[in-house]
Amino acid sequence: MLRVGLIGCGAIGSVVARELSNGAVEGAELTAVFDLVVDHPLQIDNLDSLLSRSDVVVEAAGHGALHEHGVAVRESGTDLLVVSIGALADDDLEARLRQAEGGRLYLCTGAIGGFDILRAAMLFGPLEEVAITSTKPAVALSRPWMEQAVQDALAGGSEPVRVFDGPAREACALFPESANVTATLSLATVGFDRVRVQMVGDPEVTRVRHVVTASGVAGTYKLSFENAASPDNPRTSAVTAYSVLRAIGDICRPPVSFL
Ligand SMILES: NC(=O)c1ccc[n+]([C@@H]2O[C@H](COP(=O)([O-])OP(=O)(O)OC[C@H]3O[C@@H](n4cnc5c(N)ncnc54)[C@H](O)[C@@H]3O)[C@@H](O)[C@H]2O)c1
Repeated sequence: MLRVGLIGCGAIGSVVARELSNGAVEGAELTAVFDLVVDHPLQIDNLDSLLSRSDVVVEAAGHGALHEHGVAVRESGTDLLVVSIGALADDDLEARLRQAEGGRLYLCTGAIGGFDILRAAMLFGPLEEVAITSTKPAVALSRPWMEQAVQDALAGGSEPVRVFDGPAREACALFPESANVTATLSLATVGFDRVRVQMVGDPEVTRVRHVVTASGVAGTYKLSFENAASPDNPRTSAVTAYSVLRAIGDICRPPVSFL
């Protein structure tokens, strides 16, 4: 049995914990949960206890937790599955996590996907353009640093408003809560400085929509995602927890698997 320890038992972690405890992933069992606030029957109160009970640790707690514990998990020889991918927009953290020796580092694809075909295309030849347009409910995109006219258009307008068009690195800094999918696409393809990001606030949409486009010598690709929000955290797509469960299932190495 693969022993799974969990850091963070919020919108994503609680679903992962529940489903693992229900036997949703054959060959994996939940053995410990570490959360600063939420209580759980398998709750432990320090990282060492978590590590002694885990073959793989799932980080589903946030950027701070990854900064605090990520390197230590790998250095203990325990595998680490990262869900807060946006934290890797910090080059220093990314380098430290990659360089740490011990357990394997897994990056969860989370709320989007399709990287298998994009990475295959990159082996054929360089991808010249990679872009993502994220469309969100207009009110959810308003920020205090935006010009007043833009804030007004987002608050009361009837038309979509494009609030950002630039490189992924800047998007991750300006919209940190939207950084996960942007960071995942950047890390899987051409990097934070070459992925173009557009952010659109649309008064008509209720779900978050991501459209990824990429082109190169291998072909032209368009991937579209429209995710329902988690009932526990409107900023998190509900499917993300199930991406974690799918990843744990793949780590268990079932006899038949998509690769
Ligand atoms: N990769 C993706 O596509 C994707 C999608 C959505 C969310 N996320 C990221 O996943 C993470 C979790 O999202 P969520 O919606 O479950 O968040 P959440 O706020 O609902 O839950 C986070 C939980 O972690 C706990 N926590 C925070 N810091 C901790 C620490 N240092 N040690 C232990 N526990 C700690 C909190 O008490 C909370 O219970 C966030 O970083 C979010 O940005 C990634």
